[in-house]
Amino acid sequence: MTKHVMAKEQAEMAEFSAKVRLEIADKNRKALVVTYGCQQNENDSERIRGMLSAMGYGFADSVSDADLIIYNTCAVREGAEQRVLGNVGALVHEKRRRPHLIIGLCGCMMQQPHMAETIRKKYKHVSLVFGTHVLHRLPQFLHETLMEQKRVIDITDSEGVIAEDIPTYRSGDPKAWVSVMYGCNNFCTYCIVPYVRGRERSRSLDKILDEIKDLVSRGVTEVTLLGQNVNAYGKDLDQGLDFAGLLRKVNNIEGLRRIRFMTSHPKDMSEALICAMAECDKVMPQLHLPFQAGSDSILSAMNRRYTQAQYLDLVSRVRAKIPDVTLSTDVIVGFPNETEADFEETLRVLEAVRFDSVFSFIYSKRTGTPAAAIDDKVTDEEKHARFDRLLTVQNRISREINDACLGKEFELLVEGESKTDSETMTGRTPGGKVVNFPKTEGIKTGDYVTAQIDKTNTWSLFGTVK
Ligand code: SAH
Ligand code: SF4
Ligand code: F3S
Repeated sequence: MTKHVMAKEQAEMAEFSAKVRLEIADKNRKALVVTYGCQQNENDSERIRGMLSAMGYGFADSVSDADLIIYNTCAVREGAEQRVLGNVGALVHEKRRRPHLIIGLCGCMMQQPHMAETIRKKYKHVSLVFGTHVLHRLPQFLHETLMEQKRVIDITDSEGVIAEDIPTYRSGDPKAWVSVMYGCNNFCTYCIVPYVRGRERSRSLDKILDEIKDLVSRGVTEVTLLGQNVNAYGKDLDQGLDFAGLLRKVNNIEGLRRIRFMTSHPKDMSEALICAMAECDKVMPQLHLPFQAGSDSILSAMNRRYTQAQYLDLVSRVRAKIPDVTLSTDVIVGFPNETEADFEETLRVLEAVRFDSVFSFIYSKRTGTPAAAIDDKVTDEEKHARFDRLLTVQNRISREINDACLGKEFELLVEGESKTDSETMTGRTPGGKVVNFPKTEGIKTGDYVTAQIDKTNTWSLFGTVK
């Protein structure tokens, strides 16, 4: 059963927060929070910023401008971990130059005991390490490092606890992430997430609705409901409400215009959920539905609990009810001992479904997962060659799908200036596709406009606002 952080602990944190606030008052202290990994981590970083802001911290744009640096880390692949270690290593000079600088590491990578140990032994300039289960105790940790000069390392696994009512600092975007559940019970054999995020636990309906209503009152019109396995929402609660039911409740919130959600596991994609998506006007026609591999024997070795045929059948049932749905997926290439024939099944699924976009990854061995124990005979060269072949196939499909958008009109939520060109603005279609359009007098972030597509490429669409 899901437990909540008790009022007593919340009161303690409020006290620590007030003490830190007093300590840094008038010192113009600034923090930099850098996020690696997925949207769950982005959302956690918003809560970290919320707690820091409540303690009186402002925010820095760069390392050299910051008095406190927190890296919120990801453990899903080795590359993500290497990047964090490299960046943290480089901070040693900054710490020498400015000894009062506090460097902290948190998130999924730190939740692994061997990693916390590496930091403790080899990265002495890091004074704060905390895991995913104790995020809400940041005021206490900061109090200990700042005022008692202690080095804090806390990766306690407080199984199944949800911390509500943490202040959240958001960027003022018209869009917001809302976590509706935490953790994962699926234990796909390649994946570290269940070990670093704990078991599935759902937030109560009331807390979710209150949070979204509050966001709407502050100008947000689009929310993305988050969970590692979001469509398992409610299974651990006795609210009598599943994810389909939750969508229907959120759909009733006045002033909200768009609802998205991720990530859905194919095995939990119920008929009721497909119907709710089709019937709720605010739920956007977009579905991220990872299939990971096309071969049944690899799917079984991955512990995904569906076959290729079941996946393809699911996709046709979704498309039958939501014909304009945009589909995206995740694929792993090179799972241990994947054969050429197995890999060809993955390509077969890409051709059969024709996803709008595909996030593909080369298998990365994660310490402590069952797949890490498999003696893998496939060479890295072979894996990279397959990965390139997959990209070639999918790039062609993505391009064909985008080309078919030429001349069509879409409603866009304007998200702001393009990152690469200040004369261009970007927005997203109901299906979640990015559309660029020339900056236009009177159109600003948060507006809803209609654009006609007049140019396309593999990754994005270009349009003219009508
Ligand atoms: N809960 C989501 C997302 C998990 S992490 C889901 O079940 O789909 C995001 C993606 O990273 C996964 O979908 C998977 O494709 C990829 N991934 C996870 N572990 C990996 C590993 N060890 N090596 C390579 N890719 C991995
Ligand atoms: Fe990892 Fe599988 Fe859970 Fe996704 S569903 S987080 S891939 S264990
Ligand atoms: Fe990475 Fe943790 Fe997300 S491992 S993908 S940040 S849940």
